[in-house]
Amino acid sequence: MKPRVIVTRRWPAKVEKLLTERFDAVLNADDAPMTPAGFASAFRDYDAILPTVSDRLPASVFPSEDCRTRLLANFGVGFSHIDVAAARDRGIAVTNTPGVLTDCTADIAMSLLLSVARRAGEGERQLRAGAWKGWCPTHLIGTKVSGKKLGIIGMGRIGKAMARRAHFGFGMDVVFYNRSRVDDDETRSMSARQLPSIEAVLAESDFVSLHCPGGAENKHLIDEARLSIMRSTAFLINTARGDVIDEAALIHALDKGAIAGAGLDVYAEEPAVPRGLLARENVVLLPHLGSATAETREAMGMKALENLIAFFEGKPAPDRVV
Ligand code: DGY
Repeated sequence: MKPRVIVTRRWPAKVEKLLTERFDAVLNADDAPMTPAGFASAFRDYDAILPTVSDRLPASVFPSEDCRTRLLANFGVGFSHIDVAAARDRGIAVTNTPGVLTDCTADIAMSLLLSVARRAGEGERQLRAGAWKGWCPTHLIGTKVSGKKLGIIGMGRIGKAMARRAHFGFGMDVVFYNRSRVDDDETRSMSARQLPSIEAVLAESDFVSLHCPGGAENKHLIDEARLSIMRSTAFLINTARGDVIDEAALIHALDKGAIAGAGLDVYAEEPAVPRGLLARENVVLLPHLGSATAETREAMGMKALENLIAFFEGKPAPDRVV
């Protein structure tokens, strides 16, 4: 008998087709988010649940008994929305989809950096509103990007991809903070310097880009104290997870002019975005688009499928995190 699996949101059509061929799969044609009650019955009725980054799986949705589910095959690299301890306690495996969204996420980080520095969002809003009065020497003056210093927090796959774009594309100096030592040919080829603390990176960077995982350990990593270390001319870019930044502290820092602006793709309570950010011209706000290309979303789905197939064939799932 084919394992019974349930997909919590719509996935790329090609992957959904393969899923239904290989598994007894229930898809979500309406794309309506799964409710906590929906998860409770899914844990009872399905061998695997295929959630994604917009689902919430705190310990409270995991069943205390009658759990049929053996695998959570997440569509997404980040899995801080899943209480992995609760999964582990019940013997449920968790997999993710690393590697395939590296370039596209770094592209979005670079887009945010350029847009906020060059006031692209502001300019586009002005033009569409019919408020552009024509070229003049003082119109919408932004900040030059080329040759500036980029500070990266979290020099993993995406951090390095961002560093490559910034260094080889825009001649930027790269400094970074990473918990473990990073010493490889690629990092050396960019002359990227590892600094001993987040504070040291914040203090000397013109742009700071966050590429660390979400979850409890990095919650509010960028708080009021750390924002106050940044230069008043510096910009903060976040394509990691919303709660890595204390959003209230960020709004306060922007209000005071403690930093020059921010480019954000992720928010603590998605899809809600704080009014204090929506109201500002010097922030660029995207709706969590990091991996949103046809190629990448399909590749993410294929990775989840590979994990699912390996797991139910009794082989090691390639991207098992629990
Ligand atoms: C992920 O996979 O964690 C991303 O945030 C989705 O873009």
